[in-house]
Formats: sequence, C-alpha cells, structure tokens
Amino acid sequence: MRSNSGKEKGIKLAPSILDADFSKLGEELKAISPYADYIHLDIMDGHFVPNLTFGPMIVETVKRVTQIPIDCHLMIYHVPEWIEAFIEAGADRLSFHLHSTRNEEHIIRTIRNLGASPGLALSPEVPPFELRRFLEVIDFVIVMCVYPGFGGQPLIREMLPRINAIKREARDMGVSVEVEVDGGIKTHNLTEVLEAGADTVVVGSSIFSSDDHGKAAAHVRSVIDTYHPGTGEI
Ligand code: DX5
Ligand code: ZN
Repeated sequence: MRSNSGKEKGIKLAPSILDADFSKLGEELKAISPYADYIHLDIMDGHFVPNLTFGPMIVETVKRVTQIPIDCHLMIYHVPEWIEAFIEAGADRLSFHLHSTRNEEHIIRTIRNLGASPGLALSPEVPPFELRRFLEVIDFVIVMCVYPGFGGQPLIREMLPRINAIKREARDMGVSVEVEVDGGIKTHNLTEVLEAGADTVVVGSSIFSSDDHGKAAAHVRSVIDTYHPGTGEI
C-alpha cells in the first residue's frame, strides 16, 4: 500500500524570519506566506540565550502583514510577565523553554485561557523525561536541534530520536502532542527530519540566505508535500 505523503499527513512548515531582511519585512513575509503554515518568530532576551531579538511590536507588525498564524518561540526568562503582551500582539501559538521559568503549568493554563495554543521547547541539554509531566496540558513540543540563540547552526542529529520518543510517550498516556523541530534544517537534511517524525519543521537560514526567498520556501514546501515515509535516510 502506498504511504501517505507529507501533504496528506498535514506536515507543516514554519519559516523562521530570524535571518530575514528586516528593512523590507513586509516583502519578505509576502514572498514566503504562500508556502507557510506558521510564521515562526524567535523572541530572545539576551539572558536566557546570548542574543537579543525583538518584542511584541514586531509580532504586531507581522500580524498586520500576513494572515498566516504566528508561532512565537520565547527564549526568555520572566515568561509570565510577557505572555499577555505577545498574545495581544497576535501570537497564535506560544512556546517557552523548560528551565527558563517555574510554575510551568500555570503559565500553560494562562496561555490557553488567553486564547493561544501552548507549547514547551526543549534545548539539547535538557533531558526529554522532564517533559513528561506536561504532556497532558500542552499542544506541542519544540525539539531543538541546535543550542538556541542563533540561526544558521548545524543540525545536531542526536536530537532526532527525541521526536518519536516524545510522541510515543504521549500516545502511551493517551494524549496527542505535535512535535515541531527547530534549528539546523536545510533542504539536504529535511527528509531525514521528516523521517524522524516531525509534524512541523522550522526553517530559517536555508530560506533566508538564498537568493530568492519565495523560491526557496516553495522548494522546502514541495519537499515536505511530496515526502513519503520510508524514503528518507536516518
Ligand atoms: C534558534 C531559533 C531557530 C532558528 C532557526 O535559536 O530558535 O528558530 O532561527 O534557524 P535555522 O533554520 O537557520 O537553524
Ligand atoms: Zn525558534
């Protein structure tokens, strides 16, 4: 029997605009939007990670330019202080990192009550078993395949088995959790990441360091849509 394609399975693409040209953000968003399921926005505070990016104002700007749902990835301390502002600015999905804060369950509930979809992100150094107690209350997990902070880093392959391990664990608990994979995904390793079980892939520099960003996003989209399980190498 023929296996379902990536398109039939509903595998999603979330371009990260971290490496976009912010002097023409509107054009950048228009070029990639036809191929995107989410726009992935990396929020960094210069403390939890050694880089500083942008806040709710840019989220609001992105919201004005595109209809695509916004996937806000917080890499910050002081998470509770910022949730409301990011959701008000237009975040449809809001994730934060394990080890960035306490009171995770309360934060997750607050995100949901404010109308966004809650997720938890897992850096390479954080053991996946720490996620277990939150699997029933979150909608998605971000498996980081780079140390958070910068775009353009190489994929840490050793993280890929985490994807199916987390999905298996959730299934055993009778819950379903979507796994988003973030960091180091390029066209040459994309099928490997899909083969490892990703439901959503974040792609940043591979799109935004190309000559034609729209064309690069279209290419990533077509690799996802035409992917068939069993055809990628692990
Ligand atoms: C890393 C960010 C990623 C990054 C992805 O801290 O969370 O979303 O921008 O960019 P690439 O695809 O270049 O690794
Ligand atoms: Zn990210």
